[in-house]
Amino acid sequence: MIHFRELANEYKTPLYVYDFDYMSAQYEALKEAFKGRKSILAYAVKANSNLSVVKHFAGLGSGADCVSIGEVRRALLAGIAPYKIIFSGVGKSDDEIREAIESDILYINVESEAELLRVELIAKGLGAISRISIRVNPNIDPKTHPYISTGLHDNKFGVDIQSAKRMYILAKNSEYLDPVGIHFHIGSQLTELDPIREAAEIVADMVRSLQAIDIELKFFDIGGGLGVVYNDETTIAPYDYAQAILGTLKGLDLTVICEPGRFLTANAGYFLTKVLYEKQNGEKKFVVVDGAMNDLLRPSLYNAYHKIEALTSKESEPRAVDVVGPVCESGDFLAKNIMLPELEHNDLLVVHSAGAYGFGMGSNYNTRGRSAEVALENGKARLIRRRESFEDLIALEKDLL
Ligand SMILES: Cc1ncc(COP(=O)(O)O)c(C=O)c1O
Repeated sequence: MIHFRELANEYKTPLYVYDFDYMSAQYEALKEAFKGRKSILAYAVKANSNLSVVKHFAGLGSGADCVSIGEVRRALLAGIAPYKIIFSGVGKSDDEIREAIESDILYINVESEAELLRVELIAKGLGAISRISIRVNPNIDPKTHPYISTGLHDNKFGVDIQSAKRMYILAKNSEYLDPVGIHFHIGSQLTELDPIREAAEIVADMVRSLQAIDIELKFFDIGGGLGVVYNDETTIAPYDYAQAILGTLKGLDLTVICEPGRFLTANAGYFLTKVLYEKQNGEKKFVVVDGAMNDLLRPSLYNAYHKIEALTSKESEPRAVDVVGPVCESGDFLAKNIMLPELEHNDLLVVHSAGAYGFGMGSNYNTRGRSAEVALENGKARLIRRRESFEDLIALEKDLL
């Protein structure tokens, strides 16, 4: 049981709270599902990049999936072994590629032919050999929200099978490239197994056709995407997920790399926000809170649902309300048309499932400092990021006035 009121009183609101023990349990459940096969769980740092969170996963033996050199640096700083770090992303700068090669990470996930040539050129300049993997876009509909679907040719991610084959041949013939892996990631918040299995089959067949031309890969990188319960979704059990993937790999000696983000952190996180006041515009009732879209963007960005629990001492009949923040945008809401009881100034709302793509998507819009973050571990709370002050917000500008 988490004492939300006490945490809100001690650390103030808006506040992110993460249950580290829950994160460990999710990590272990997924790792267990792949047992019997060489596997690496490479935590998708973008889901929640707080250094203490990444360090927590490092302590469990996790690798890291990074999408910027900033994330690679975070992973290294947090203690993730370089040989378990992957650098993905559709647009990497020359400086980022150079630093990734110099950091001797496991591999760079290449997402286009042009990028492969850049990586080769930069490796050549460094006199190095860059380990690479290629992100294949298997053109599978993952049946998730269009904004988090990535495995269709309409999406900007990865390359089609034919291009990938050309790229592997080029890499194999290059003195500066070492093709070690193959990667796919068809989308996030996946709740259906068939699209994953279908994608894995396509990519496993590609591995076999590469073997036939003497290109031997070591890593089969299945991306992340495992869905979680926000509301009433039926999700995929880790065991079924692992079995579906492993079933496509018969006869192949490959280390499976899985890049979970949301699965490890979403339901470990809570966003706490206090009620400022209620207000009525015509028929419409609003609960105005101190947290906003700059703290938790998912409802505004994807119309994402987060369960909201009201902690109030008053008893009343729930009624339909919109929960909105102070930011000057009509799109600034945490929930629309949800049932909540009558609320008073300083009552607390607990926004559930906020541990993934929550704080990380935050901003300073409207000159609002980002929330503090707190970890809960073995029944103890500790601050893992202090609240941003006004001084923090102007630090990079004030001397340039
Ligand atoms: C390449 C890649 N790997 C892993 C992830 C993590 O996804 P999730 O948080 O859904 O597990 C993403 C998310 O977009 C991704 O693009």
